[in-house]
Amino acid sequence: MSVIVVEGGARLQGTVGVRGAKNAVLKEMVSALLAPGRHHLTNVPTILDVELMSQVLEHLGCRVEQGNEELWLLVPDELNPEAPIELVRQMRASIVVLGPLLARTGVARVALPGGDDLGARPIDMHLGGLEAMGAEFELVHGELVGALDGRFKGTEVELPFPSVGATESLLFAGATAEGETVIVNAAREPEILDLIDHLVAMGADITGGGTSLVTVVGVEALSAVEHRVIPDRLEAGTYAVAAAITGGDVTVTGCAPTHLRMELMKLEETGAQVERGDGWLRVIGPERPTHVDFATLPFPGFHTDMHPQMVALLTVASGTSVITENLYDSRFRYVGELARMGADITIEVQHAIVRGVDRLSGCPVLAPDIRAGAALVLAGLRADGTTSVGDAEHIDRGYEDFTGRLGALGALVSRG
Ligand code: UD1
Repeated sequence: MSVIVVEGGARLQGTVGVRGAKNAVLKEMVSALLAPGRHHLTNVPTILDVELMSQVLEHLGCRVEQGNEELWLLVPDELNPEAPIELVRQMRASIVVLGPLLARTGVARVALPGGDDLGARPIDMHLGGLEAMGAEFELVHGELVGALDGRFKGTEVELPFPSVGATESLLFAGATAEGETVIVNAAREPEILDLIDHLVAMGADITGGGTSLVTVVGVEALSAVEHRVIPDRLEAGTYAVAAAITGGDVTVTGCAPTHLRMELMKLEETGAQVERGDGWLRVIGPERPTHVDFATLPFPGFHTDMHPQMVALLTVASGTSVITENLYDSRFRYVGELARMGADITIEVQHAIVRGVDRLSGCPVLAPDIRAGAALVLAGLRADGTTSVGDAEHIDRGYEDFTGRLGALGALVSRG
C-alpha cells in the first residue's frame, strides 16, 4: 500500500504550476481513435489515469509514445475493438471508447465497468444515445457487445441530465455520423469545450460547444492533429484550498481561474483572499475559515470533484456548513476518515452537516478515491501531529507529483 505522510502545521507559501486537465486529456486520447494517423497531445499530465488510458489504447491496437508533458498516439487503420475488464474496471472513463470503436469498426466489446467508490454510476445515457443513433447492445457474460450497421445516423438526443460522459459519447458518435446530431441538455464543462475544440481541429463540424444545445454535422472522415490540453481546474482548485486550509499564500500558475468561478467564490466566502489574473490565481488563507453552504451542480455550478477538498477546509471553520451533493450517491464515504481526525460531520442522505472544530488531530486514514484522498492530505496539513494517508495510489490517478509540489510550497509531506 502506498502512503502519504503529512506533518501538520506548515503554512504553505510560494508558486505551483498545474498541468493539463485529466478529464480532458483522457477523452482527447479517445477521440484519436476516430482517425488513423499520428496524433499529438501537449500539456499532458504525468498521472496514473493517462497511463491506464494508454494501456487501453495499446490494447485496441494503437502505439503510445510519451514525452515530457506530451503524448503521441499512433492510431492504425485496423483497430482491435475490445477493451478488457482489467483496464475498464480500473478506470470507468474508458467506457467512452464505445462510440469511436463502433464508428470505426462497426463492433465494440467493452467490459461493463460496474460501480465504484462514488456509487452505482450507470451508463444508460451513453447506451440510450448511441442506440438512438443506430447502435445495438447486448450484455454477454459481463461484457457489452455493441454492433453498428454502417455509419451512425444523426438524430436529436435529449439527455435527462447533462452527463459529461454521455455528451462525450454522443460527440464521438456524431462526428462521423450520417447527417446531423443534436444534443439537447448537453454538458457545458470546460473539458467538453476542449474536447470539441480538439474534434473540430480534427475536421469535425460542431457548433454550440459550451451551451446546452450542441449540433454535430457528421463528416466523412477526421484526421490526426496536434492539440494542447486545457489546464486542470481541479488540480488548481486543490492547491487553492491547500493555501486556504493552512492560512498560507500560494500562487497557482498555468491555470484558468474562469473555470473555477463558483469554487473560488465559495473560497472567498470562507474568508480567503483570492486574486486572479490571466492564467494565474493567488490565494491567501484566513486565520480560521468561516462556515459556508454549497451544493454541487454541473458546470458552472460547484464541481462535485472539488467538494471533498472544500469539506476538509470547512471541518475547521467557525460555525456549521451544509453541503449538498447532487451528482453522486456515495461521495460522502470519506467523511468517516475525517471523523477519525476529529471532524464533526453528520450525513443526512445527500447533505453533510459540518460543524467546525477548533483542531484536527493526525492519525492513519485511507484514501477512498482521487479527490477524497487529496482532501485527507489537505486535512493532514492543518492537523496536529502526523497523518498518514493510505491507498495513496488513488491520488496518483489525478495529481502529478502531489507530494513534491506540496513539499515545494513548504508542506512537510513524504511518500511512504
Ligand atoms: C466526469 C468526470 C468526473 C466528474 C463528473 C461530473 C471524467 C473522467 N470524469 O465523470 O470526474 O465527477 O464528470 O462532473 O471526466 N449518469 C447516469 N447515466 C449515465 C451517465 C451518468 O445516471 O449514462 C449519472 C452518474 O451516475 C452521475 C451523474 O450522472 O450521478 C453525472 O455523471 P457524468 O456527468 O456522466 O460523469 P462522468 O462522465 O462519469
